[in-house]
Amino acid sequence: MLIKVLQDQFISKLAPIYDEVEAQQLFLFCLAELEGKSRIDLIMNPELTTLNSEQWFAILQMLIEQKPIQHIFGKAYFYGYAFNVNEHTLIPRPETEELVEWILNSVPHNQSIRILDIGTGSGCIGLTLAKELPQSQVTLMDISVEALKIAKQNAEALAVNVEFIQQDILALDQLTSPFDVIVSNPPYIRQLEKVEIKKNVMDYEPHTALFVEDDDPLIFYRKIATLAFENLKPGGQLFYEINQYLGQEMIELLRGIGFKDTELRRDMMQNDRMTKSIV
Ligand SMILES: C[S@@+](CC[C@H](N)C(=O)[O-])C[C@H]1O[C@@H](n2cnc3c(N)ncnc32)[C@H](O)[C@@H]1O
Repeated sequence: MLIKVLQDQFISKLAPIYDEVEAQQLFLFCLAELEGKSRIDLIMNPELTTLNSEQWFAILQMLIEQKPIQHIFGKAYFYGYAFNVNEHTLIPRPETEELVEWILNSVPHNQSIRILDIGTGSGCIGLTLAKELPQSQVTLMDISVEALKIAKQNAEALAVNVEFIQQDILALDQLTSPFDVIVSNPPYIRQLEKVEIKKNVMDYEPHTALFVEDDDPLIFYRKIATLAFENLKPGGQLFYEINQYLGQEMIELLRGIGFKDTELRRDMMQNDRMTKSIV
């Protein structure tokens, strides 16, 4: 079957659900995974055919049912690296790549620094830092045993040596050793924001990774910042991905705990999305 014909089917069936740009991206993801081809290959050779049309249609059906493409293939790309993902791990988001970029621009690259990633999920933040900062010592923490299994697979695939800790951060009284950098993208979506959440997230991504209670949405930030304030080395840095609606509340919380210098940044969509605090 001509891949061009499949492309037309994908766009016509998926554009009403996702939008045309995203439908095109979904098609290109499948083209790469199923055929090992790119957009350019198709432009150069419009007569490209597939022997896999049954598989293509099975995937199209899953996409129509709004199963995330990353779950269909068990894989997501983050900062240029491939990460295994499943129903126990959040799918890494592009805004989180911006947080990683900020960290990489804020730390020395030629020293051995200690980094802790709390709520690591697939490991996308901590493992990318371990890859980009080969002299660093990175610890990945999560409450979820299943998420940590995936993070371990990812560490092996990326050939990085990191430490794993299974721990409920809310039940921890203090960190065991001092860190130069603590980073976290904890659960931050309030119940009242559930109406904004799309079906592909709501039905397929782990709710323990996403949601907090309306009456205390900063519970993870307060706990982690309190631990970090005690355990960061002098000049150490705390990085957060945050709820876009709670930027000012985050600044007040971090100041209240004692951080002398906090910067709030927007993501590429112009939403308040991340903070950096220095102890
Ligand atoms: C928003 S996800 C972030 C995943 C990953 N760091 C990323 O940026 O894609 C939050 C993570 O926090 C973990 N988590 C939830 N509650 C936790 C707790 N009490 N202690 C430690 N980790 C927790 C979840 O399992 C999930 O992996």
